[in-house]
Amino acid sequence: MLVLGIESSCDETAAAVVEDGRKILSNVIASQHEIHSPYGGIVPELASRRHVENIPHVINEALRLAGVSLARIDLFAVTRGPGLIGALLIGLSTAKAMAWAQGRPLVPVNHLHGHIAAAGLSHDINYPHLCLLASGGHTSLYKVESPVAAKEISSTRDDAAGEAFDKVARLLGLGFPGGPAVEAAALNGDEENVKLTEPKVKGAPLAFSFSGLKTAVRRLLMNEPKPAPEDIAAAFQKTVAQALVSRTMLAAKEFSLKDIVVAGGVARNAYLRNKVTEAADSAGCNVFFPEPVLCTDNAAMIAAAGYFLYKDNPDDPRFTDFLKLDGVANLPLNTK
Ligand code: KG4
Ligand code: ZN
Repeated sequence: MLVLGIESSCDETAAAVVEDGRKILSNVIASQHEIHSPYGGIVPELASRRHVENIPHVINEALRLAGVSLARIDLFAVTRGPGLIGALLIGLSTAKAMAWAQGRPLVPVNHLHGHIAAAGLSHDINYPHLCLLASGGHTSLYKVESPVAAKEISSTRDDAAGEAFDKVARLLGLGFPGGPAVEAAALNGDEENVKLTEPKVKGAPLAFSFSGLKTAVRRLLMNEPKPAPEDIAAAFQKTVAQALVSRTMLAAKEFSLKDIVVAGGVARNAYLRNKVTEAADSAGCNVFFPEPVLCTDNAAMIAAAGYFLYKDNPDDPRFTDFLKLDGVANLPLNTK
């Protein structure tokens, strides 16, 4: 079964062709980083406009690289939310028009479900497993019971981990997006030169909190002499990794889960990958990461999640009666 996935929830316009939920035939991502970079963050109106310009080219390129015509697509899958509403609507309207014109079903996908499904594109992962999803908009732990069912165990009480990277990068004048910039700066820094404390949520050992860290960095920058930005970047990255790893391992123990997936944009971070791998090894757990390009936003993960949703319930009337389907900016992850 060939699925065309479409993703436009934030600042990446993406389309992918995936066979049977596992085999990526093409995965095209047009990033808008350069247009948002002068503003130090994503400007929603600019994002929507760029999605409109990019989307036909991205879809045509995905079909061309996959070597298939539009007529061979069996199923369409599109991100319904969460995300920027104007941005979501571009992908949704395009997907609805294409599925309607082709007379094919359309599966709406929750963006978070896509991230959770991404590691399955490169690895065979047992169920149930634990998933740490750390992105720019979300940071949560899930017990993933099947390809279509995930239950949230805990989440962040304030900023997402990626958001903290982006805000700290801005404070340090390192540019946008902040994650890769902080990671690069940290390579030249010494994490021991700056002291940051791992934020904890009272009475909720599995919950995350990152806004205090950002404030601590702002305070450090008021010191005279200021610590070197590279040292702050290294200490910040270490502290975020500690917070993510400690809660992940605690949840793995509490829920007796041996297999761990780490997904979302922050999972591209090599320091975090090393720390999770070390901790998982010493606890006798297996850890799986999506390929780096499948950690940040992409449409292959949406096509994969869409395929499994369709397979789970092919007669779901929503998959054929989709013309009124709307985007939802704060769509909760309501799987089974
Ligand atoms: O999953 P994603 O592409 O979009 C959301 O759904 O939010 O994640 C983007 C986030 C950004 O905050 C970005 O700074 C962060 O992932 N990120 C990283 C790295 N690469 C991307 N954070 C830390 N280290 C990285 N190498
Ligand atoms: Zn995302």
